Amino acid sequence: MAFKIGLLGLGTVGAGTAQILRDPEQRHPLLRELEIYRVGVRSLTKARSVSLPQSCLTTDLAAIVTDPAIDIVVEVMGGLEPARTLILQAIGHGKHVVTANKAVIARYGDEIFTAANQAGVYVLLEAAVGGGIPVIQPLKQSLGVNRIHTVLGIVNGTTNYILTRMQNEGADFAEVLADAQRLGYAEADPTADVDGLDAADKIAILAALAFRGRIKLSEVYCEGIRQVSAADISYAEKLGFVIKLLAVAKRQEPPSEAIEVRVHPALVAKTHPLAMVQGVNNAIVVEGEPLGQVMFLGPGAGSGPTASAVVSDLLNLAAVLQTQPAQVLHPLLSCPHNHYSPIAPIADLVTRFYARFVTQDCPGVIGKLGTCFGDHRVSLESLVQIGLRDELAEIVVVTHDVREGNFRRALEDIRALESVASIPSVLRVL
Ligand code: HSE
Repeated sequence: MAFKIGLLGLGTVGAGTAQILRDPEQRHPLLRELEIYRVGVRSLTKARSVSLPQSCLTTDLAAIVTDPAIDIVVEVMGGLEPARTLILQAIGHGKHVVTANKAVIARYGDEIFTAANQAGVYVLLEAAVGGGIPVIQPLKQSLGVNRIHTVLGIVNGTTNYILTRMQNEGADFAEVLADAQRLGYAEADPTADVDGLDAADKIAILAALAFRGRIKLSEVYCEGIRQVSAADISYAEKLGFVIKLLAVAKRQEPPSEAIEVRVHPALVAKTHPLAMVQGVNNAIVVEGEPLGQVMFLGPGAGSGPTASAVVSDLLNLAAVLQTQPAQVLHPLLSCPHNHYSPIAPIADLVTRFYARFVTQDCPGVIGKLGTCFGDHRVSLESLVQIGLRDELAEIVVVTHDVREGNFRRALEDIRALESVASIPSVLRVL
């Protein structure tokens, strides 16, 4: 065997990775050059879905990342620590790293890639975004000839599963979340998924690759799906939209040099390719010049799909290490940029909005709404009074493109109107 692997973690993704590597038949012949040499686990006695020689297993993870015999460390344990420290130690000991850990890369990518470039090793992360969907290598390689202006997608399967069920069943968020937890589609603590944090990590990584600049995660605007209601899904449907949790990275129009990086629920026209993405699937749309638009669609999580992405990185490493001297990093596999991209504040975003107002049902209310919008240069595309609920009227508006800051100021004025009881929802429109 040419390359010895130290695998950190033998959970869902680790076991899937071991399964592929131990069964290379009909797969790429280079997989035969990859040997699982050591596996770091929490318990030596736990029953495993993959059979590995007991002598491979150890609970001493530091011994793996410092072992001179190991060429590549695969980190699939998840969590911030000790994963970050182990990755840095592995790099410090001259090992290449393959990781599925979007949380670590999104937060500590700067120190990890700086250390990797200094050490002359690769850190590859195809599995960190989109599970089995190949999107990291395409952004680095085959799409790299384009001037990319937009990367947007559905990068969290849990929330897409919840929104799909809300859409199909007319059910509310809390009800579907509880059922998704019971069925194992959502975590007991669903925060990272439903509050958009997982998607924010992923779009920060995609934005860094697409726009070749580091992204400060704290500057990524992030809103989850807790406030999306069955009522909004139903109104959106009548207007020709579905509601999806979108992760968006977009280059702003010149003269701005900033990029937008944001996660939020949005109304997506039923004719848009992302509207068709159902259940736990992920999809990523890349738009650039001269390419136009491509969409990657597939399973965003799970043992097999994520392991497929991990092993694709191992395959790339095996190929490049076999054919190229180690002193020079391959420019299409390494991460050479070290500046930060300027991120536009959300108030500068120009987009359409959907908003729902609950108002008194009396003469002049619609006129007052119109005045508040007009005062802040918000132009309306449609305004519909849906009906009465508890003697109050429900009014839904969709705006034309407007600067978010202006729209928010109009909402403040509207909120102060005596005839407006509440503004239950405000959503952006793709
Ligand atoms: N929790 C993620 C999701 C899967 O629901 O898509 C791992 O990235």
